[in-house]
Amino acid sequence: MLRWLLSRAAGDPRLAELAATSPLVRPLVDRFVAGDTLEDGLRAATELAAVGATLTLDHVGEYVTDEQDADAAAGAYRDLLARSAEEQLPAGISVKPTQLGLLLDRPGCKARVADLAARAAEADAHVTLDMEDHTVTEATVRLVEQAHADGATNVGCALQSALHRTPEDVRRLTRLGAGIRLCKGAYAEPAHVAWQRRVEVDRAYLEAARYLLREATYPRFATHDHRLVAAIKREAAVLGRARDSYEFQMLYGVRDDLQRTLVGDGYRLCVYVPYGTEWFPYVVRRLAERPANLAFFLRALTSG
Ligand code: FDA
Repeated sequence: MLRWLLSRAAGDPRLAELAATSPLVRPLVDRFVAGDTLEDGLRAATELAAVGATLTLDHVGEYVTDEQDADAAAGAYRDLLARSAEEQLPAGISVKPTQLGLLLDRPGCKARVADLAARAAEADAHVTLDMEDHTVTEATVRLVEQAHADGATNVGCALQSALHRTPEDVRRLTRLGAGIRLCKGAYAEPAHVAWQRRVEVDRAYLEAARYLLREATYPRFATHDHRLVAAIKREAAVLGRARDSYEFQMLYGVRDDLQRTLVGDGYRLCVYVPYGTEWFPYVVRRLAERPANLAFFLRALTSG
């Protein structure tokens, strides 16, 4: 219920404006978002690279409603790829298909993905399509398939263990050789498409992780759940997988302690670094993941 309410709030422009103008909200935003500008994102990325992490950068934004905004988002990612290459950062990009116009014009979105993939390939960088709500899952998986059909093998996507369809998508994209980021899923989804209980989502995660460890070339495990991290490490060791043949991924500002430990122990860690001004829905999803964050946010919003 809380997740459902928050998912409605995430799409409300009035709340976004209220949050943007409340100075008291800023400390919470700063915890999860590197800053408003590309330079802020690059600064955070440089600091993380210095301690041994790789990066995937997200110029925040989603569900654009006109082509100009989709073009502007693609432009922001072009600038990001150029600057990141200049700085020689070990960084890829994470981009939401609806930010590139998926819901407006699929061929246009596909062309933007192709352009970004070609530019990323020049810097040997990976493009991950973030997975959004279940109504765009099939379209997102198809974008990855189309990119591969056109030779852009550096394009992959996130898959959410919460969704019933995910085991099939995991097999489908593993057969293709596409990079998969396995996550639990940050969207409030209905029972006919998604597991509702945490224990079911976690069990599905572990099953998919085991499949990926057996079958995939380079799986990416996006979770801060220390039990899953431990299980993946154990399973990988049993299968004799080298530590550089898979990676953990975590979000900027979440479980920094676990991030440091993984790097210190010689595991690969990729940190997801969001930046930009359209941070509201991203931050609301982070609040939904942890009610303790939410209480703080609501207090700040109502007194701001
Ligand atoms: P879980 O929610 O069980 O959290 C485990 C522990 O991590 C918590 O006990 C807490 O300590 C800490 N934690 C987790 N979230 C926190 C938060 N917001 N604030 C503070 N502490 C927190 N989802 C999606 O639908 N599409 C996508 O494309 C992506 N992409 C993505 C990339 C990366 C790199 C990550 C790490 C995650 C995503 N996600 C995502 C989000 C993902 O689906 C999921 O919602 C969150 O990662 C939370 O789930 P955990 O696996 O961390 O477990």
